Amino acid sequence: MNASVPVLAIDGPSGSGKGTVARRVATQLGWRLLDSGAVYRVTAVAAAAAGVSAADEQRMAEVASGLPVAFEADAAGDERILLAGVDITKQVRSEETGELASRIAVLPAVRSALLTLQRSFRTPPGLVADGRDMGTVVFPDAACKVFLTASAEARAERRYKQLKEKGFDVRLATLFDDIARRDARDAARVVAPLRPAADAIEIDSTALDVQQVVQRVLDAMAAVKP
Ligand code: DC
Repeated sequence: MNASVPVLAIDGPSGSGKGTVARRVATQLGWRLLDSGAVYRVTAVAAAAAGVSAADEQRMAEVASGLPVAFEADAAGDERILLAGVDITKQVRSEETGELASRIAVLPAVRSALLTLQRSFRTPPGLVADGRDMGTVVFPDAACKVFLTASAEARAERRYKQLKEKGFDVRLATLFDDIARRDARDAARVVAPLRPAADAIEIDSTALDVQQVVQRVLDAMAAVKP
């Protein structure tokens, strides 16, 4: 870990717009991006492929500690996620994978096995880290911490649009229920529950568009003294 490399941590619940905001902020700053949700999702895909059940914490942690994963950009600049050389991008984004990721994210041994991989993204000139526990656990020394929220209704609607655009067949009511259930599980877990760091700046994006949120995050980062 390179502690001198600045980190901008963006945490919040699923559908708060973190992913889009973090990506745009990273592009604007010219910094690397860590999508830590994808790290949990890749673990879920790898575990399912290896036939490891979420009840087997030890084997699940072994899967997490030896992930042969690569995050790349294709010719169009879109992200591709490879597991042992196989493109699993679409599988990673599915609701089934998100559900399994949420269930294995409660396992302390898995969370600790994924720390090294997540911290390896901290390379110059800086890192934008998107997740649930970036500011609290993975990068507690982050230069700037943002906690992004939005109402559950707004988040379900955003997720619905996103998944439809990606060609998934989903229902809004189901997504709303899934989001509410996953929020409850993410917030209630014993290890690294979803909560703002004591020194995080909270932004409610319910009534803001993406560009407005991006600007607030950039302003928060600019306000940090070097
Ligand atoms: O943001 P996402 O939907 O891609 O994340 C998938 C799951 O991974 C989510 O339910 C909670 C878990 N997760 C986590 O526990 N800690 C993180 N830093 C990121 C994601």
